[in-house]
Amino acid sequence: MAVRDIVPEKVATLRAGKVPFYEPGVDELIDRNSERLGFTLDAAEAVAGAEFVFICVDTPPTYSGDADLSRVWTAIEELPVSRERLILVMKSTVPVGTGEKVRAALDARGLDSVGYASNPEFLAEGTAVRDFLEPDRIVVGAFEEADAEAVEQLHAGVDAPVVRTDVASAEMIKLASNAYLGTRISFINEIANVCELVGADVNDVARGMGLDARIGRSYLRPGVGFGGSCFPKDISFLKLLAGNSGYHFQLLNSVIEVNELQKRRVVGKLQKHLGTLRGKTVALLGLAFKANTDDLREAPSIVLASRLLAEGADVRAWDPVADASQVLKGVSFHDTVLETVTGADAAVVVTEWDQLRSLASTDTREAMRTPLIIDGRNLLDPDEVRAAGFTYEGIGRASSPLDVLPETEEPDQPFPERAPATED
Ligand code: UDX
Repeated sequence: MAVRDIVPEKVATLRAGKVPFYEPGVDELIDRNSERLGFTLDAAEAVAGAEFVFICVDTPPTYSGDADLSRVWTAIEELPVSRERLILVMKSTVPVGTGEKVRAALDARGLDSVGYASNPEFLAEGTAVRDFLEPDRIVVGAFEEADAEAVEQLHAGVDAPVVRTDVASAEMIKLASNAYLGTRISFINEIANVCELVGADVNDVARGMGLDARIGRSYLRPGVGFGGSCFPKDISFLKLLAGNSGYHFQLLNSVIEVNELQKRRVVGKLQKHLGTLRGKTVALLGLAFKANTDDLREAPSIVLASRLLAEGADVRAWDPVADASQVLKGVSFHDTVLETVTGADAAVVVTEWDQLRSLASTDTREAMRTPLIIDGRNLLDPDEVRAAGFTYEGIGRASSPLDVLPETEEPDQPFPERAPATED
C-alpha cells in the first residue's frame, strides 16, 4: 500500500517510522505493517498498480462556509491517465452532489474505466484506530454495483453492518450523522443552562434521558461547546448545502448559535464570582478541542482565551500535547498544571484530560490566589471539590451558593406570601 502526501516533512517523518500528528495507536499500526507500507510525494508512484485509490484530503471551509474542494480536485487531476481499471474511493467529507461532479470530470478526461465510490469515514480523533477497526457501520455508495461490491469486499474482515446505497445518500449519511450529533450536544448544553436556573443537575438528567433506549446515552455530555475539524464545519456545510438547494435549515442555525454562545458562558461564570476580570489571572487547563488529541481546530479554548484577554484578564494555559503558542498570542504557557494555577484567581477545566481529575488538591489550593474552579466539562465531583476548600462551578449543576434559592424562600411557590412581621 502506498500513501501519498504533498508535504515533504510529513512523508520524511512517516518514512522514518514516526507519525507527524498525535493519534494513539497509529504508530504501532504503521510499525506492525511497515513491510507493506510505502510513503511517497509522487502521485504516479502511489497509484501505479493500485486497484483502489482513496481520496483522504481535508475539505476546510471557504470564506462562505461552503466546503473547499480544491484539494479533492487537485488529487483527482493528478491521477495519471491509464487504461488500468481502478476504483476511486472518496473518504473526504464532501457536499452531496460531489460524486456526480467527479464522475462527470472523470468521464470528460476519458477516464470512464475508473470506478467511483463514496465510503465516508466516521473516525473520531483519539479513538480513530478503534473506530476504523470496529466501526458501527460501513457506508458504501457507488454508481455501479460492481464498484460497491469491490469496496465492500475490502472490508470483509471487519464485523459491521454495511449500508449499500447511491452516492448522494452515502454523502448525506456523513453530513447528517455529524449534524445530528452536534444537535444533541447543543440540546444538552441548553438543558444544562436551564438546569442551572431551576436547580436541576444535568448529569443526572442526561443519564435519566439516555437510559431510554430511544434516546441513548452518547453525545449527551454538556460542556464548553463542541469543536474540532468536523462538527462545526460539517454542520455549516449541511446548512449551506440546504440553502444552496433552496431549503432553509432552521434547526441547524440554532445548533450553531447555541454552540457559539456556550463557548462564552465560562466568562459569565467567572464574572459572577470575580466581578470584573480586568487584572484577574485565569488558568485555562486543557486547550485541545477534546482530550486525547493535539488538535486545536475550532477549540472552545481559543474563543475563551480571546474573550478573557479582551476582558483584561491575564491568561495562563496548559495542555499536555496541544501547542497553542502560534494561535494564542498574549497567553502564557506552562508545563505543569501546578505552575499554571499558581497565583490564579480561577482554574478553568476546558479539556477533559485525565491529568485534571486530581486538580482539587491541597497543592492547587495553596498555589491559587482565589480557590475557584470552573469545571467546563463536569469532570470533577462537586462535593469533593468543595470539601477540599474550593468554590466550584460546573455546567448545568446547582453548584454554588449563588445558584440556589435562599433557604427562606419556598421553591414550590413561585410567589410566596410573606407573613406579616409580628413582634413578640
Ligand atoms: C467527529 C465524529 O465523532 C466522527 O464520527 C467524525 O468522523 C469526525 O467528527 P471528532 O471531531 O474527532 O469526531 O470528535 P468527537 O469525539 O465526536 O467530539 C466532537 C466535539 O464534541 C468535541 O469538541 C467534544 O468535546 C464535543 N462533545 C462530544 C461534547 O461536547 N459532548 C459530547 O457528549 C460529545
